[in-house]
Amino acid sequence: MTAELGVNIDHVATVRQARRAVEPDPVAAAVLAELGGADSITVHLREDRRHIQDRDVHILRQTVRTRLNLEMAVAEEVVAVACQVVPDQATLVPEKREELTTEGGLDVVGNLERVSAVAARLKSVGIKVSCFIEPDPAQIEASIKAGADAVELHTGSYANAGREALDDELKRIYDAVAHAGEGGVRVHAGHGLTYWNIAPLAEIPEILEFNIGHSIVSRAVLVGMERAVREMKALLVETAG
Ligand code: PXP
Repeated sequence: MTAELGVNIDHVATVRQARRAVEPDPVAAAVLAELGGADSITVHLREDRRHIQDRDVHILRQTVRTRLNLEMAVAEEVVAVACQVVPDQATLVPEKREELTTEGGLDVVGNLERVSAVAARLKSVGIKVSCFIEPDPAQIEASIKAGADAVELHTGSYANAGREALDDELKRIYDAVAHAGEGGVRVHAGHGLTYWNIAPLAEIPEILEFNIGHSIVSRAVLVGMERAVREMKALLVETAG
């Protein structure tokens, strides 16, 4: 079975917020991602609202035709938004204000009570819950205890591994996938995945969903650049008569 592809469009909002402008609109990007075959749209509503805004999440809830996956911290304020918006899935992630992107997995072992309480609230309104964790047996077991429907294995260490460390990182992922399977929880994976490093993970049939952002948005900028410039150039030519 082919794994599903969740497309994370946060970076589209990052470009918009760089100018506090109205474009590019992540809502439009979501429509195009779905036309391209995305199986779900992922956005991270960060507490500092540095990219995705509340308005985006509310509109996406109305417009996404596949599934909406909301990445979120276990903070009260975002939990309230999630319970109001009711995405199809919430992925619980750690969040530090100073980080460039989500660094490391959620420590479910150390925050079992809080994660369990948040998972229960989200599930009570019909949201599926996924925990974004390191590929570590203790974190998998804690996520299951917390009531998670899925675990998303953090693939950052795999993505950053040099040649020597790659086999060890892959083995960590294989072992985690097997462990999660024994616990009966769905397995997702994401972070740092690219057109170059996805293949070995795509071969693991138990991974049911990949969430990919940076690499896809980066490619979209490059494959769209030539057309965008041609269109502006054509306007100049037309206007000059
Ligand atoms: N999954 C989760 C839980 C994330 O926090 C992120 C980054 O926002 C991703 C997947 C996507 O990572 P990347 O942008 O490196 O593809």
